[in-house]
Amino acid sequence: MTSFKPDNPAFVSNPYPTYAKLRKSEPVHRTREGYWIVTKYDLIRELLANSELSNAPAKFSVLHARYRDSNVAADLANNILPFLDPPEHTEKRRLLNRVLQKQMAEMRPAIESICGDILASLRDQNEFDVISDYGTPVSIQSMMQLIGIPPTHEKKLKKWSALFFYLFAPIRSAQELAEIEHAIAEFRSFLTELIQLRKKNPCNDLISNLIGTSENNDANSHSTLSEKDIIDNCILIFADGIENVDRALGTCVAHVMENPAIFASINEVDDYERFVSEALRLDSPAQLIARISKSDITVGGQHIDKDSIRFLAIGAANRDPERFDAPDEFNIDRPAQQDLVFGAGRHSCLGASLVNMQLTGALMRLFAQVQLISPVKDNLEWENRFGHRWLKQYRIKVNWL
Ligand code: HEM
Repeated sequence: MTSFKPDNPAFVSNPYPTYAKLRKSEPVHRTREGYWIVTKYDLIRELLANSELSNAPAKFSVLHARYRDSNVAADLANNILPFLDPPEHTEKRRLLNRVLQKQMAEMRPAIESICGDILASLRDQNEFDVISDYGTPVSIQSMMQLIGIPPTHEKKLKKWSALFFYLFAPIRSAQELAEIEHAIAEFRSFLTELIQLRKKNPCNDLISNLIGTSENNDANSHSTLSEKDIIDNCILIFADGIENVDRALGTCVAHVMENPAIFASINEVDDYERFVSEALRLDSPAQLIARISKSDITVGGQHIDKDSIRFLAIGAANRDPERFDAPDEFNIDRPAQQDLVFGAGRHSCLGASLVNMQLTGALMRLFAQVQLISPVKDNLEWENRFGHRWLKQYRIKVNWL
């Protein structure tokens, strides 16, 4: 019997053999710890559409709604889209998404100029880390611009965003929870001040336009976002635009190094987009999506009790041979949008188009400015981070043009 041990160093460095064995022998697998892991593409798609699965924090989680009054992390979690269920989720998602999509659509020139400026600042170095020296500043500055955060405080924003992102993995200690709570409290008060500023002087940014949405609505209507909704979901959007994105840039460049002939053959923007999309299918930054069963259900012939936790392994689904021909091969000519990199269904990622702009923009700019590029180390080191596939770093040597 195959076991699922996400902390095992062999699994951290290469989870795919374990996923393949599970998918074949036990696609709905109960771990020793008592949670379930689903590895088959079709079952995951089916589950993502199943209304008997809830996103609300589990009964025994420190983020459960009963801790809202005593714990700021639980209070925020129960107010942001990834932890909400319909009907509250449906309405908040609709209101946020309307403004977010419009704002993101205007970001391409800003992202290009941010990438250009950061590369210009790196030109005196012939070696740097694609993630921390390039991906992180590109993602932070683009998210600051999108939301409307003035161009200062980058360091503390990165710290808050990294701590906030621990909400998407099991919280390991009281100390970790305390640090997360502290970061959330500080981030909330920072955005509260920004909202007051934007109320007096609105700009064309996400935060001003979200305030506008709330104020244009009838106060008695449910179709409105409160100030707290705006703050908490802007924290979510900010961190979503950084934590997976900077690491994903490292993953994309690693795939360029592994597939030089394919990369050399591409020219057009949509070729780069297909390249990025294939790199993320093969090494999806988000590997597991968590859900709780609201009732007893049967999945893939397996009975699952009410209130049990299940992880939908999108990293495994994206390499399912029943869905993708030669799934472990890098092939930019696959039919579009079959992968689950950004989830699917009612909680699917709202930022996919921005990710595409950030990653293709950063990749195209980098390769337009360097002549020769090689990794400093041949072996890739992946972070031991539950539910994610993140390179620790990706250092390259470059010759600038
Ligand atoms: C490489 C980068 C990214 C990856 C891999 C990623 C992946 C995902 C996935 C898999 C989900 C679904 C989670 C679930 O079903 O429980 C999700 C949700 C979400 N993502 Fe992303 N994301 C990325 C970047 C972004 C960006 C840049 C934004 C914002 C601009 C964003 C905003 C969101 C939001 C708001 C949700 C919650 C949607 C909901 O629950 O209704 N993401 N993301």
